[in-house]
Amino acid sequence: MPETIQSEKGKTFFIHTFGCQMNLADSGIITALLQQEGYVVTDDEAEAGIILLNTCAVRENAVDRVGHLLQHLYGQKKRDKRLIIGVVGCIPQHQREALFARYPAIDFLAGPDTYRTIPELIAQVQRGGKGAALAFNTAETYDGIEPVRQSAISAFVPVMRGCNNMCAYCVVPFTRGRERSQPFASVIREVQNLAASGYREITLLGQNVNSYHDADSDSNFAALLDAVSREAPEARIRFTTSHPKDISEALVRTIAFRPNICNHIHLPVQSGSTRMLGLMNRGHTIEEYREKIALIRSLIPDVTLSTDIIAGFCGELEEDHQASLALLSDVRFDAAYMFFYSTRPGTLAAKMFEDDVPDALKKRRLQEIIDLQNRISAELFHEAIGTVVEVLAESESRRSSAQLMGRTAGNRAVVFDREGYQPGDVLDVLVTGATSATLIGRPVRTGTYSSVNLR
Ligand code: 5AD
Ligand code: SF4
Repeated sequence: MPETIQSEKGKTFFIHTFGCQMNLADSGIITALLQQEGYVVTDDEAEAGIILLNTCAVRENAVDRVGHLLQHLYGQKKRDKRLIIGVVGCIPQHQREALFARYPAIDFLAGPDTYRTIPELIAQVQRGGKGAALAFNTAETYDGIEPVRQSAISAFVPVMRGCNNMCAYCVVPFTRGRERSQPFASVIREVQNLAASGYREITLLGQNVNSYHDADSDSNFAALLDAVSREAPEARIRFTTSHPKDISEALVRTIAFRPNICNHIHLPVQSGSTRMLGLMNRGHTIEEYREKIALIRSLIPDVTLSTDIIAGFCGELEEDHQASLALLSDVRFDAAYMFFYSTRPGTLAAKMFEDDVPDALKKRRLQEIIDLQNRISAELFHEAIGTVVEVLAESESRRSSAQLMGRTAGNRAVVFDREGYQPGDVLDVLVTGATSATLIGRPVRTGTYSSVNLR
């Protein structure tokens, strides 16, 4: 290959992103950092001389998927000796240099606090050798980096990073370190820029977003959310993920009061049993969780709720599992992310408890949870048939360009006939059908109906 083409390829990078929305946001930060140094992003992996894997360590199967990709990339590296592979994010922070021995494809490693060193790591590899930057840095919030965004409609804004909660099952405190919040003024500046650029949806992100605290201005999350919603009055404001301990009345009132803050709260419960919540070190009982749900519903009657739940954590008995099913039946979440427990090395549970629920039993319990939740979601979604919902159109639907996909304020996915609408439009849709995960409908003109479903 002629030298010029190869050196262009050597400056071109592609990022595979795994895991949560924070990782998606981080890929935007990494892209900005590399572009500042003259690197060029591509969405065609074959064009790239540098391939980054921005990884997730939260469950075993997320880690396995990265392992499979690294094996595949090793074959590619044998054919193209100059290809550089970097693994960044939560897995390298967790497994550290041991990854080099396990996956010979890897050239360098960087953790969530060291993305600024990636250009230097690439240079180091180009000089011959491997590189790793895995220090924690609680001061790092990537303040001042304007992330490169995937969408012109919807933007993520990380407002805090890390987690201090030490839930027994969870690897995040070991991959993302201690909590630190973005300065209030920086968040506001970023939101003002997004509003000025016409963004229609802004999602504030944090592993424990509602524990946000800016020491300089002594602002909490309720104050931040209120200010953000005023700075971007034309945008829908969302936030995730919330911890029950930080659901305050002031926060719920802010969500209820500000019209552009979506009436949707993702509130992981993890288990319906107080005994399990104790073992999980969640810091609250199930009664306290139910009280938070009651508070939310009393102040925001049309709220939609979603949750995360784990089947088969250490020591889980049949009665604990039944308590999880009972919680789902009582609360009737709109949606849930449902997992079976997998041990994460280094966590409190891995050190203190035996992973004693047999795999087959974990999977049976998880299936019961999924079946119940799907039935509840389907019932709730069917109740919406015949109502009109306000939808922000996001993209073409996966099946057909004659249909668009969007979401209600309550975060329900809606697929509807396009009829000339474009992604970014906010429109009213008459719901004509539903599955357990999607509403189906067609646009209606304002004024042709009498009742609007705010969910
Ligand atoms: N096993 C299974 N699920 C887990 N989660 C976190 N750690 C584990 C684990 N070790 C789930 C929790 C969390 C979500 C992001 O992933 O439900 O809220
Ligand atoms: Fe995965 Fe958690 Fe890291 Fe997000 S913070 S990428 S969910 S391990």
